[in-house]
This record gives sequence, structure tokens and C-alpha cells, in this order.
Amino acid sequence: MLIRNNDDGMIHPLSSEITSKEAYATRRELLRRWSAGAAAAGMAGWGQREAFAQGGAAVKLAALPANQSTLQGAMTLEKLTTQKDATTYNNFYEFGTDKSDPARLAHTLKTTPWSIEVEGLVKKPTRFNLEDVMKWGAMQERIYRMRCVEGWSMVIPWIGYSMSDLIKRVEPLPSAKFVEFVTQADPQTMPGVRGGFIDWPYVEGLRMDEAMHPLTLLTFGMYGEILPKQNGAPVRLVVPWKYGFKSGKSIVKIRFVEKMPLVSWAKAAPQEYGFYSNVNPSVDHPRWSQASERRIGEGGLLDKKRKTLMFNGYEAQVASLYAGMDLVKNF
Ligand code: MTE
Repeated sequence: MLIRNNDDGMIHPLSSEITSKEAYATRRELLRRWSAGAAAAGMAGWGQREAFAQGGAAVKLAALPANQSTLQGAMTLEKLTTQKDATTYNNFYEFGTDKSDPARLAHTLKTTPWSIEVEGLVKKPTRFNLEDVMKWGAMQERIYRMRCVEGWSMVIPWIGYSMSDLIKRVEPLPSAKFVEFVTQADPQTMPGVRGGFIDWPYVEGLRMDEAMHPLTLLTFGMYGEILPKQNGAPVRLVVPWKYGFKSGKSIVKIRFVEKMPLVSWAKAAPQEYGFYSNVNPSVDHPRWSQASERRIGEGGLLDKKRKTLMFNGYEAQVASLYAGMDLVKNF
């Protein structure tokens, strides 16, 4: 979030998003690519496990079965980021500010037992066990493009179900206009929380219609397995048309509120991070351009960059949510 990224190298257009008809026609290609990706992922997973073993904490993640999503926009055909890159280049400030810190240090995160407290403007505020929450929707695999505000991107096969399934289940009151996501902040197990880097806990938020959008994923796994700790185990949010920081990790509380919540990065640096944080190539971060991005795994810092797409390429699915809004003001 706080690095400088001023390069404006050459740009690469992304391969176009496919329609569901084309998705059907290219199913063989998807399967071919997926099996190649899975093989690479398997090797990367092995490397990762070895790295954990060297750090003294062997990690073997459980498989999380899921069906491929048929939702429009949910299965990009772009090349997957390797599991190794996606699990060793992370932002999770509760475990340090270096990209390699979470993979090294997040093994201390205690994910069982885990519960999610649903509070605020709902019919019956309740604390739910994670095991129960996991049954409220059918697990789907969705391949989403992820764009970090710092200027890099990845393509990740997530597993989860639409956040809307949970919201419908807990029955928010009509007065609920926003959803706030509060994440774990335990100084005992999270070394970053012992420092004052941001005002803990890390809090994110969405407008109710954004949270209800079918692409907003309540996420329990990736690459066919449950979430690794460094990626926000055991449950996180993934909102693919927004900058990565909107996807809060290790959620412990979901609060329905009337007023727009003060979310962590807007609180820490209001001139740099707004509530909406939609991926928008024409609204620069005050300290760098957002017009292009570097895809992790596609070469080094000096390699060609890709052109960043409006709403991260999900414009057809989500632009209507913002019709009539000034997106420069509401950044
Ligand atoms: N969630 C919590 N609790 N703490 C964090 O520091 N970082 C955010 C987001 N969610 C963060 C968080 C940022 S800046 C990004 S880019 C993404 O997580 C990174 O997710 P990934 O490591 O799975 O790619």
C-alpha cells in the first residue's frame, strides 16, 4: 500500500472476457489449462510445504471440493498465477509489512475453533460456528483477476460462495445500508498487531448492494484447498472489481450498519484511499498512476506491463452499481 510505483512501461491488453456461451465452447481449453495449472500448482504447493517445514511448521492443507462457477465473469481464462506466488507474495499486515512475512509468520494464526459474529441491523444478532456458515452456500470455484492498489495483479482460483447467500440467511433489517467486515486482531498470535502500523482490527466495508452482488465471494479456499493462513484463513472476502485491500482476511465479525463505515485504509490515509476503491485506471493514486499493472509471475519489475481495466475487467457485471456516481470524487 505504501510503496511507490511510478513506472509507465509498455502496456499489454488483457485477453477479452469470455461469454458463457464461449465458455462452454472453450471448456476443453479451460480443462487443459486448468490441468496444466494444477500440475504447476501441485509442485508449487510442494515447495511451499517444504518451505514451511524448514521454518519448523509443516503444513498440509485439506482439499475443499467445489463445482466450477457458471456465473458470468467468474471464470477468466487468463493464465493462473502459480500457487507458490499466490501464497508467498502477500499483504497481511497483522504478520508484517514485507510481502514474504505472512508466509513465514502466519503459522501462529489459530483458525480452530473459529466463529463469525453477525451483529448490528439484523433480525437476530448471533455468533455462528464456521462449520455452520460453510454450509450456507454451495462451494464454487471462481477464477478471478485480482488487482492490488500497489500496481501488481494475479489470477487466482478461489473457492467459496456468494456473500449474498450469507446475507439472505441472517436477514438484515431494511435500515441496513452497509456491511462492515471486522477481522482478527490477536496480539498473541499476530506480531504485526503488537505494533501500531494501523489502528487494529483491520476493518473493511461494502455498500449493501455491493455485498449482495453475486461476484462478491465469501471465500474459504483457493487452488482446490482450504485457505492457507497467509491468504486469510479460515474465511475472507474477495471482491474482484475492487483493489485487493477491500478483500479482508480472517473475518471474525460481520456488522450491518446504516452509515458508511470508516474502513482501515481510509482511516489511515484518507487522501489516498477512499471507501469505494474500485479499480479505475483513470483515477490515479495521489502518488502513482493506476493505468497499468504488473502481473506477478510475468517477469521482473522492468518487464512490459498490462493495461489496467475499468472495474478490473468486471465492468459489464458491476458498472450499473455506480451509475450516475462521480467516480473521481467517490474513489
Ligand atoms: N486483510 C487483513 N486482515 N489484513 C491485511 O493486511 N491486506 C489486504 C487484503 N486483506 C490485508 C487484508 C491487501 S492490501 C491485499 S492486496 C490483499 O489482502 C492481499 O491478499 P492476498 O495476499 O491473498 O493476495
